[in-house]
Amino acid sequence: MLIRTALISDSHEISRLSGELGYAAEASQMAERLRDLTEQRDNIVYVADSGNQLLGWIHAQVRVLVEAPRFVEITGLVVDSAHRGEGIGRQLIAQTEVWAAQSGFTKLRVRTNQKRSDAVQFYNRLGFVLVKSQHILDKSIE
Ligand SMILES: CC(C)(COP(=O)(O)OP(=O)(O)OC[C@H]1O[C@@H](n2cnc3c(N)ncnc32)[C@H](O)[C@@H]1OP(=O)(O)O)[C@@H](O)C(=O)NCCC(=O)NCCS
Repeated sequence: MLIRTALISDSHEISRLSGELGYAAEASQMAERLRDLTEQRDNIVYVADSGNQLLGWIHAQVRVLVEAPRFVEITGLVVDSAHRGEGIGRQLIAQTEVWAAQSGFTKLRVRTNQKRSDAVQFYNRLGFVLVKSQHILDKSIE
């Protein structure tokens, strides 16, 4: 299995895996998103490629905030449900750490839905520690 940067041609497989997270998207929509992301130096999408299918993906981005120094946030991660517990998530995080460290960052952050207690255990195992809990609020605008 190879961890490599995502290509537009991965759209269909990335969509399939996103469906497992509950964020299904048309492959064409995914291709558009990947096209946007791959043009931005401050974003990275890695995939775990078995040779004939993708086993997982991760997306991370540099966050620039008024109130804090820049840091890297993992904004999405999923491993194929048939291949969990095989070290793929760990490898995707490790590659993202290399990318962040090479860009001079010293911190990775991730936000997880409170209902994903499994994910919290995974992140804890990899050295992430809980720093705060938040509410996320949306407002529809015309
Ligand atoms: C969370 C997820 C990415 C983990 O990926 P994975 O490939 O199964 O994890 P790994 O096999 O690399 O596990 C790495 C370590 O975490 C531990 N771990 C993984 N899942 C765990 C769980 N549910 N509970 C406790 N520990 C867990 C493993 O035991 C392993 O520890 P070790 O290497 O010290 O033995 C995967 O389960 C997944 O895609 N879940 C659904 C989507 C999701 O929750 N994404 C995160 C949202 S931000």
